[in-house]
Amino acid sequence: MHAFRAAILRFATDREPRHAAIYEQDGLLVVGANAQGRQVVLAVGPFRELRKRFPEAAVTHWPGRLIAPGFVDLHSHYPQTNVIGSPAEGLLPWLENHTFPEESRFASPDYCTEAAQFFIAELLRNGVTTALTFATSHPASVNALFTEAQKQRMRLITGLCLMDRNAPADLLNQRAPHCRVNATEQSLRDTVTLIDQWHNIDRLGYAITPRFAPSCSEAQLSGSGELAMTYPDVWIQSHVAENKAEIAWARQLFPESRSYLAIYDDFDLLRQRAIYAHCIHFDDDDRALMRDTGAAAAVCPTSNLFLGSGFFDTAGADWVGFQYGLASDVGGGTSFSPFHTMLAAYYVAREGQTKTGLSLSPQHLWWQHTVGAAQALGLAGVVGNLQPGCEADFVVLNPQATPLLARKTALAANVDELLFSMIVLGDDRLIERTHIADSKPAP
Ligand code: GUN
Ligand code: ZN
Repeated sequence: MHAFRAAILRFATDREPRHAAIYEQDGLLVVGANAQGRQVVLAVGPFRELRKRFPEAAVTHWPGRLIAPGFVDLHSHYPQTNVIGSPAEGLLPWLENHTFPEESRFASPDYCTEAAQFFIAELLRNGVTTALTFATSHPASVNALFTEAQKQRMRLITGLCLMDRNAPADLLNQRAPHCRVNATEQSLRDTVTLIDQWHNIDRLGYAITPRFAPSCSEAQLSGSGELAMTYPDVWIQSHVAENKAEIAWARQLFPESRSYLAIYDDFDLLRQRAIYAHCIHFDDDDRALMRDTGAAAAVCPTSNLFLGSGFFDTAGADWVGFQYGLASDVGGGTSFSPFHTMLAAYYVAREGQTKTGLSLSPQHLWWQHTVGAAQALGLAGVVGNLQPGCEADFVVLNPQATPLLARKTALAANVDELLFSMIVLGDDRLIERTHIADSKPAP
């Protein structure tokens, strides 16, 4: 058993608004092993009260620091680190001119390993402790990322990118040598092999990953839907309604479906644990379909601003009541830092909410990158919060990390002002330490 003393931020789970923060100026976080041997939060609260209850716990004291839940990144592409900051007119030329050429390099297992190591290290440096991310269409890219995440004991979900048409030939799913099975069937067999090998091993999870409807044949989408039913606790990840030209293309390829989103429903790919990136150009029927199926949106504001895709409608999502959380979308997105993503979400919501003139509160933004994203993954109470029972993934923030941060956070009169100062001014320098559950307690 170990305890950490500092200011502590967590989120209420038993009261409205559901994104209400609980802030302890002088708090204690007590961690220890659960029945499965995983390090979890045993208790959290004011130092003065809790210290008496756990006199045997060794205490690490971080004066002037803030302990907060590790961030949850709901959507990214680990093979696109090098694509960050590649300008294009819009999504489709960006894919063709920058992204596909880079993803082709992942045919080399050594390239995959180096990229996986950099990506995981960068997530942790930025305080991200749970991530759902795309690999490429090469099985070696999936193996490389799981191998590295397992070494770091990180909660990570990924999967083989399914794309059997409308991309460069070397990036499409491939047939196995000397095997008569076609490439589409092989991609589904590879998916099953990877699920068997990695899903629910340590803290790893598998996601069935059709890239987006335009890159998948009907056979590949229907095979994916069948796998999604066979493996109900496996995740699904894809893209939808990001860009107007992409939407027109998807509608042309699947004219029978009511909308772009409905294509996925028609192939049984909307359900709980299904995460769809972007979800920008929706109507109310799409929103209701998300709600009724339990699918969730990964909101990617830095990517949407960079690629000029549009603005996610948070008010519309809340009005209809479907789940969403924040995501970096590296490399369409421009930053690994959750602070940059939260600030971009603030700008985007401000743009969208002309009716009220209000944007999102700092507590709501922070919640979307922690508890909200965890809920979208079906992992509420497991990650994204620091309530008793949650896995002990947390960050230690230094509000004095830069002269401007120190000046501004010293003026904060309440928790909203403190959080907002960090959202507006923060980046990786704020993250002094990232603690992963199961790792040895920090000295
Ligand atoms: N749609 C299909 N593939 C991609 C991708 O790699 N990035 C983004 N932003 N959208 C996509
Ligand atoms: Zn994406």
